[in-house]
Amino acid sequence: MLYTVLIPAAGSGKRMGADKNKLFLELRNIPILVHTLRVFDKDPNCEQIVLAVKKTEQLFIEQLLMDYRITKVSAIVEGGEERQHSVYAALKVVTSKEVILVHDAARPFIHQEVIEQLVKAAGASGAAVAAVRAKDTMKKVEDGIIQETVDRESLWIIQTPQAFQYALLEKAERLAEAEKFLGTDEAMLVERLGERVHIVDSTYDNVKMTTSEDLLYGEAILNKREQEEQ
Ligand code: C5P
Repeated sequence: MLYTVLIPAAGSGKRMGADKNKLFLELRNIPILVHTLRVFDKDPNCEQIVLAVKKTEQLFIEQLLMDYRITKVSAIVEGGEERQHSVYAALKVVTSKEVILVHDAARPFIHQEVIEQLVKAAGASGAAVAAVRAKDTMKKVEDGIIQETVDRESLWIIQTPQAFQYALLEKAERLAEAEKFLGTDEAMLVERLGERVHIVDSTYDNVKMTTSEDLLYGEAILNKREQEEQ
Protein backbone atom coordinates (compact mmCIF):
# COMPACT_ATOMS: atom_id res chain seq x y z
CA MET A 1 0.00 0.00 0.00
CA LEU A 2 1.30 3.44 -0.98
CA TYR A 3 1.74 6.27 1.50
CA THR A 4 2.97 9.85 1.89
CA VAL A 5 5.33 10.77 4.73
CA LEU A 6 5.41 14.15 6.49
CA ILE A 7 8.78 14.85 8.08
CA PRO A 8 8.93 17.70 10.60
CA ALA A 9 12.50 19.01 10.57
CA ALA A 10 12.00 22.54 11.86
CA GLY A 11 13.13 22.06 15.46
CA SER A 12 16.04 23.77 17.13
CA GLY A 13 17.44 20.81 19.05
CA LYS A 14 18.46 22.83 22.11
CA ARG A 15 18.91 19.66 24.16
CA MET A 16 21.66 18.54 21.80
CA GLY A 17 23.74 21.52 22.86
CA ALA A 18 24.96 22.03 19.28
CA ASP A 19 25.27 25.45 17.65
CA LYS A 20 23.20 24.35 14.67
CA ASN A 21 20.09 22.29 13.94
CA LYS A 22 20.84 18.83 15.36
CA LEU A 23 19.58 17.30 12.11
CA PHE A 24 22.69 18.63 10.37
CA LEU A 25 25.00 16.79 12.77
CA GLU A 26 26.58 13.80 11.11
CA LEU A 27 26.62 10.07 11.72
CA ARG A 28 29.29 8.38 9.61
CA ASN A 29 29.83 11.70 7.82
CA ILE A 30 26.23 11.91 6.66
CA PRO A 31 23.73 14.36 8.22
CA ILE A 32 21.05 12.79 10.44
CA LEU A 33 18.38 14.34 8.23
CA VAL A 34 19.77 12.57 5.17
CA HIS A 35 19.86 9.21 6.96
CA THR A 36 16.16 9.64 7.74
CA LEU A 37 15.23 10.79 4.24
CA ARG A 38 17.06 7.88 2.64
CA VAL A 39 14.82 5.35 4.42
CA PHE A 40 11.75 6.76 2.69
CA ASP A 41 13.44 7.69 -0.57
CA LYS A 42 14.31 4.06 -1.20
CA ASP A 43 10.99 2.60 -0.02
CA PRO A 44 9.00 1.79 -3.20
CA ASN A 45 5.73 2.26 -1.28
CA CYS A 46 6.59 5.84 -0.34
CA GLU A 47 5.01 8.12 -2.93
CA GLN A 48 6.01 11.52 -1.62
CA ILE A 49 7.96 13.14 1.18
CA VAL A 50 6.80 16.51 2.52
CA LEU A 51 9.34 18.35 4.65
CA ALA A 52 8.66 21.10 7.20
CA VAL A 53 11.74 23.24 7.73
CA LYS A 54 12.83 26.57 9.15
CA LYS A 55 12.80 29.30 6.53
CA THR A 56 16.43 30.16 7.28
CA GLU A 57 17.47 26.53 6.65
CA GLN A 58 15.50 25.83 3.50
CA LEU A 59 18.30 26.63 1.01
CA PHE A 60 20.78 24.49 2.92
CA ILE A 61 18.31 21.60 2.99
CA GLU A 62 17.57 21.95 -0.72
CA GLN A 63 21.31 21.68 -1.34
CA LEU A 64 21.47 18.53 0.82
CA LEU A 65 18.66 16.98 -1.24
CA MET A 66 20.67 17.60 -4.38
CA ASP A 67 24.02 16.50 -2.95
CA TYR A 68 22.58 13.22 -1.65
CA ARG A 69 20.21 12.69 -4.59
CA ILE A 70 17.01 12.53 -2.55
CA THR A 71 14.29 12.48 -5.19
CA LYS A 72 10.92 12.03 -3.48
CA VAL A 73 10.55 15.37 -1.69
CA SER A 74 7.49 16.84 -3.40
CA ALA A 75 7.14 19.93 -1.19
CA ILE A 76 9.02 21.87 1.45
CA VAL A 77 6.91 24.02 3.77
CA GLU A 78 7.79 26.43 6.52
CA GLY A 79 7.56 24.80 9.95
CA GLY A 80 5.82 26.39 12.91
CA GLU A 81 6.46 27.34 16.51
CA GLU A 82 5.73 23.83 17.78
CA ARG A 83 6.15 20.43 16.16
CA GLN A 84 2.35 20.10 15.79
CA HIS A 85 2.25 23.31 13.72
CA SER A 86 5.02 22.01 11.48
CA VAL A 87 3.15 18.76 10.87
CA TYR A 88 -0.11 20.57 10.10
CA ALA A 89 1.65 22.90 7.64
CA ALA A 90 3.03 19.83 5.84
CA LEU A 91 -0.35 18.08 5.84
CA LYS A 92 -1.98 21.06 4.13
CA VAL A 93 0.06 20.57 0.94
CA VAL A 94 -0.37 16.79 0.62
CA THR A 95 -1.84 15.76 -2.73
CA SER A 96 -2.22 11.99 -2.30
CA LYS A 97 -4.96 11.56 0.29
CA GLU A 98 -4.72 7.99 1.50
CA VAL A 99 -2.36 6.84 4.23
CA ILE A 100 -0.18 9.55 5.78
CA LEU A 101 2.82 8.82 7.95
CA VAL A 102 4.35 11.39 10.27
CA HIS A 103 7.97 10.71 11.15
CA ASP A 104 10.46 12.78 13.15
CA ALA A 105 13.47 13.79 11.08
CA ALA A 106 15.49 13.04 14.22
CA ARG A 107 14.75 9.26 14.10
CA PRO A 108 17.06 7.91 11.38
CA PHE A 109 16.96 4.23 12.36
CA ILE A 110 13.37 3.25 11.64
CA HIS A 111 13.05 -0.22 10.11
CA GLN A 112 11.32 -0.83 6.81
CA GLU A 113 9.24 -3.68 8.26
CA VAL A 114 7.79 -1.40 10.95
CA ILE A 115 6.81 1.16 8.30
CA GLU A 116 5.09 -1.58 6.32
CA GLN A 117 3.13 -2.78 9.35
CA LEU A 118 2.08 0.77 10.23
CA VAL A 119 0.80 1.53 6.74
CA LYS A 120 -1.12 -1.73 6.68
CA ALA A 121 -2.65 -1.13 10.14
CA ALA A 122 -3.63 2.48 9.44
CA GLY A 123 -5.06 1.53 6.06
CA ALA A 124 -7.26 -1.07 7.72
CA SER A 125 -8.22 0.70 10.95
CA GLY A 126 -7.53 4.44 10.65
CA ALA A 127 -4.61 5.04 12.98
CA ALA A 128 -1.51 3.19 14.19
CA VAL A 129 1.70 4.26 15.92
CA ALA A 130 5.11 2.66 16.41
CA ALA A 131 5.80 1.74 20.03
CA VAL A 132 7.92 -0.42 22.32
CA ARG A 133 7.15 -1.81 25.76
CA ALA A 134 8.50 0.10 28.74
CA LYS A 135 11.52 -1.81 30.08
CA ASP A 136 11.99 -0.05 33.40
CA THR A 137 9.83 0.15 36.47
CA MET A 138 7.67 3.24 36.09
CA LYS A 139 6.47 5.43 38.96
CA LYS A 140 4.34 8.52 39.22
CA VAL A 141 6.19 11.22 41.15
CA GLU A 142 5.04 14.55 42.55
CA ASP A 143 7.36 17.05 44.24
CA GLY A 144 10.12 14.42 44.37
CA ILE A 145 7.93 11.88 46.18
CA ILE A 146 6.68 8.63 44.64
CA GLN A 147 2.91 8.59 44.48
CA GLU A 148 2.43 5.19 42.90
CA THR A 149 4.06 2.43 40.87
CA VAL A 150 2.34 2.21 37.51
CA ASP A 151 1.64 -1.26 36.13
CA ARG A 152 4.37 -1.71 33.54
CA GLU A 153 2.40 -4.28 31.57
CA SER A 154 0.14 -1.55 30.23
CA LEU A 155 2.85 1.01 29.48
CA TRP A 156 4.33 1.61 26.04
CA ILE A 157 6.87 4.12 24.83
CA ILE A 158 5.47 5.83 21.77
CA GLN A 159 7.70 6.67 18.81
CA THR A 160 7.18 7.78 15.25
CA PRO A 161 6.20 6.91 12.53
CA GLN A 162 2.58 7.51 13.34
CA ALA A 163 0.25 6.50 10.52
CA PHE A 164 -3.28 7.70 9.73
CA GLN A 165 -5.87 7.73 7.06
CA TYR A 166 -5.71 11.23 5.62
CA ALA A 167 -9.25 12.28 6.55
CA LEU A 168 -8.78 11.29 10.20
CA LEU A 169 -5.49 13.15 10.63
CA GLU A 170 -6.83 16.20 8.80
CA LYS A 171 -9.86 16.37 11.11
CA ALA A 172 -7.74 15.84 14.22
CA GLU A 173 -5.28 18.60 13.26
CA ARG A 174 -8.06 21.00 12.24
CA LEU A 175 -10.01 20.57 15.48
CA ALA A 176 -6.87 20.78 17.63
CA GLU A 177 -6.00 24.07 15.99
CA ALA A 178 -9.55 25.45 16.31
CA GLU A 179 -9.62 24.49 19.99
CA LYS A 180 -6.04 25.62 20.64
CA PHE A 181 -5.10 22.16 21.83
CA LEU A 182 -1.42 21.35 21.70
CA GLY A 183 -0.46 17.68 21.83
CA THR A 184 2.94 16.05 22.02
CA ASP A 185 2.18 13.69 19.15
CA GLU A 186 -0.43 13.19 16.41
CA ALA A 187 -1.97 10.18 18.16
CA MET A 188 -3.01 12.45 21.02
CA LEU A 189 -5.00 14.62 18.61
CA VAL A 190 -6.77 11.56 17.22
CA GLU A 191 -7.36 10.04 20.67
CA ARG A 192 -9.23 13.14 21.77
CA LEU A 193 -11.73 12.56 18.94
CA GLY A 194 -12.55 9.26 20.66
CA GLU A 195 -10.96 7.27 17.80
CA ARG A 196 -8.94 4.11 18.38
CA VAL A 197 -5.20 4.27 17.77
CA HIS A 198 -3.45 0.92 17.34
CA ILE A 199 0.04 -0.01 18.45
CA VAL A 200 2.57 -1.56 16.07
CA ASP A 201 5.60 -3.23 17.66
CA SER A 202 8.70 -1.24 16.86
CA THR A 203 12.34 -1.63 17.90
CA TYR A 204 14.34 -0.05 20.72
CA ASP A 205 16.91 1.26 18.25
CA ASN A 206 14.37 3.65 16.68
CA VAL A 207 15.73 6.34 18.98
CA LYS A 208 15.24 10.06 18.60
CA MET A 209 18.56 11.88 18.38
CA THR A 210 18.02 14.29 21.27
CA THR A 211 21.17 14.66 23.38
CA SER A 212 24.86 14.32 22.48
CA GLU A 213 25.01 10.79 23.99
CA ASP A 214 22.48 9.71 21.36
CA LEU A 215 25.06 10.41 18.66
CA LEU A 216 27.41 7.80 20.19
CA TYR A 217 24.53 5.36 20.36
CA GLY A 218 23.66 6.22 16.75
CA GLU A 219 27.18 5.37 15.55
CA ALA A 220 26.98 2.07 17.46
CA ILE A 221 23.66 1.20 15.76
CA LEU A 222 25.17 1.88 12.33
CA ASN A 223 28.23 -0.28 13.18
CA LYS A 224 25.99 -3.14 14.31
CA ARG A 225 23.86 -2.96 11.15
CA GLU A 226 26.94 -2.94 8.97
CA GLN A 227 28.28 -6.06 10.72
CA GLU A 228 24.93 -7.80 10.32
CA GLU A 229 24.92 -7.06 6.60
CA GLN A 230 28.36 -8.63 6.09
O1 C5P B 1 12.67 18.49 19.49
P1 C5P B 1 12.23 17.11 19.12
O2 C5P B 1 13.38 16.19 18.82
O3 C5P B 1 11.24 16.49 20.03
O4 C5P B 1 11.45 17.29 17.72
C1 C5P B 1 10.95 16.17 17.01
C2 C5P B 1 10.95 16.48 15.53
O5 C5P B 1 10.09 17.57 15.26
C3 C5P B 1 12.35 16.90 15.01
O6 C5P B 1 12.58 16.23 13.79
C4 C5P B 1 12.23 18.40 14.87
O7 C5P B 1 13.05 18.93 13.83
C5 C5P B 1 10.75 18.60 14.54
N1 C5P B 1 10.20 19.91 14.96
C6 C5P B 1 9.56 20.72 14.00
N2 C5P B 1 9.04 21.94 14.37
C7 C5P B 1 9.14 22.39 15.64
C8 C5P B 1 9.77 21.58 16.62
C9 C5P B 1 10.28 20.34 16.25
O8 C5P B 1 9.47 20.34 12.83
N3 C5P B 1 8.65 23.60 15.95
